[in-house]
Amino acid sequence: NTSNKLSGKTVLISAGPTQEAMDPVRFISNHSSGKQGYAIAKAAKAMGANVILVSGPVQLEKIEGIQTIDVTSALDMFEAIKQNADKADYIIMAAAVSDYRPENIAEHKIKKSDDTIEMTFVKNPDILAYLGQCKTKKQIICGFAMETQDLDKNAKEKLEKKNCDMLIANNLFVSGAGFQTDTNIVSLLTKDSIEHLPKLSKEELGQKILETMMKIEEGKTKC
Ligand code: C5P
Repeated sequence: NTSNKLSGKTVLISAGPTQEAMDPVRFISNHSSGKQGYAIAKAAKAMGANVILVSGPVQLEKIEGIQTIDVTSALDMFEAIKQNADKADYIIMAAAVSDYRPENIAEHKIKKSDDTIEMTFVKNPDILAYLGQCKTKKQIICGFAMETQDLDKNAKEKLEKKNCDMLIANNLFVSGAGFQTDTNIVSLLTKDSIEHLPKLSKEELGQKILETMMKIEEGKTKC
């Protein structure tokens, strides 16, 4: 019976891309559909959790019974996550947060002029790294990593650098994995293990992620 495994737990999930405005009509973003984050939210709800979903701009239907906070930019997402992190037992950062944003947002539409155009970008805060730094004793944190090469090595480094308990790594170039699809093929890393999972639906993967987080929590309380 999976229906109440997470009752009494609050799960905070981020999903989708962020959009970084350049002017009132333009932005930079990425191809994230939000499907993986929403699928984790559904799985958490099915397991009885109280779910808070912080969602970038996506074309997905709202999930009934889940508190969804809509955000646009990485800075908006950071604020929403900071406001809700204290309540969370489990945090899963599935969002594809833009690493950079334009330094200035032009007040008016940028006019076509020269053949080339230059724009300065500044780094966005790394939300996952922030969460890793402020992590409370009870919290379990899971990040995502999308790589195009040296997946396992880069993922392991990311897990350590960002002080996560778990990291889900996928390779953009494997078919049936990553952005837009309904399935995912990933490696699941914890501090002392790596598991190469078969192709799963994004909701099955959501359940697997949450079950692994429960195991990590059990391990912690035993020590
Ligand atoms: O370093 P990289 O962007 O590959 O790390 C991916 C993980 O970090 C994801 O879990 C993503 O949600 C999170 N992230 C973040 N804030 C950023 C960039 C990435 O929380 N500015």
